[in-house]
Amino acid sequence: MIVEHLLGEGMNIKTIAVIGAGQMGNGIAQVASSAGFQVVLIDMNDALLEKAMATIQFSLGKLVSKEKISQSEADDSIARISTGTDRSLCQNADLVVEAIPEVLEWKLDLFKELDSICPDHTILATNTSSISITKIAGATRRPDRVIGMHFMNPVPLMKLVEIINGEETSAETNATIVQAAESMGKVPLTSEDFPGFISNRILCPMLNEAIFCLQEGVATREAIDGIMKLGMNHPMGPLALADYIGLDTVLHIMDVLYDGFGDSKYRAAPLLRRMVDAGLLGKKTGRGFYTYN
Ligand code: CAA
Repeated sequence: MIVEHLLGEGMNIKTIAVIGAGQMGNGIAQVASSAGFQVVLIDMNDALLEKAMATIQFSLGKLVSKEKISQSEADDSIARISTGTDRSLCQNADLVVEAIPEVLEWKLDLFKELDSICPDHTILATNTSSISITKIAGATRRPDRVIGMHFMNPVPLMKLVEIINGEETSAETNATIVQAAESMGKVPLTSEDFPGFISNRILCPMLNEAIFCLQEGVATREAIDGIMKLGMNHPMGPLALADYIGLDTVLHIMDVLYDGFGDSKYRAAPLLRRMVDAGLLGKKTGRGFYTYN
């Protein structure tokens, strides 16, 4: 079944290409296909793509077992996703969502390439959590059709998509992406393009402060996390959340805030930097503030 999404004043989106099949990319592919879009998921090799499809199967299976979706809806979602390693597959996409690692040069190269592969109408979105949308858009000849589409982890469960307008993002592009996110069952909220946007400008300094507290011996990790969970009704404590996001990502965002604002209040905790140097990146490496199987 191919569903054409008629997006109000925006353009019609039928096919979405997702580049990068990691934790964020496979979640984005899942929610896009579950919304009825045709999806092509692209990464560098078949092993990464197979792992991503297994993750999507597992996640859809969870949603079926909780009766949030039916088995046939899960099957239809899987059927709408194709995979490949060739970026030229993006030539049929109305929207490309990039979810590759947070390396500026990689993103600039990719957007330049996408600009030459994709038809004029294609919107190029980035799931970056901290890199300037305006800078990424500058690698293309279509800065009006480049936008931030920042999903939250875990993508299938989190309601928010933070939409970020670059300096030249058009109102039509924003309207199209807002409606695409809504049709994926998400709540899109728009931020302008300043360091960390809204989500990470507020979240990461809080995580960083929790790491300072641990470093200074103010409390144990259990007390720090417990105080924030029970006292503020946060679903996870800040140290557990930093592990979940990845300590390298949290450090990268703190450095972006520090460089972008030139304000010492955004300095990264030395303990955070030391853990990243030691390769203790949190859940993904099995060790961070906590140990994982
Ligand atoms: N798909 C389907 N089901 C999933 C899932 C997924 N991707 N991930 C988890 N689940 C399931 C779990 O398997 C679990 O199922 P069971 O009950 O059958 O075991 C269920 O959802 C609930 O999970 P948990 O019981 O483990 O715990 P929970 O109720 O606390 O929910 C959570 C988990 C949604 C992650 C919750 O702890 C939470 O909201 N944590 C905060 C997450 C957060 O802040 N995310 C934003 C990070 S910042 C970011 O993403 C942006 C950035 O740029 C850094």
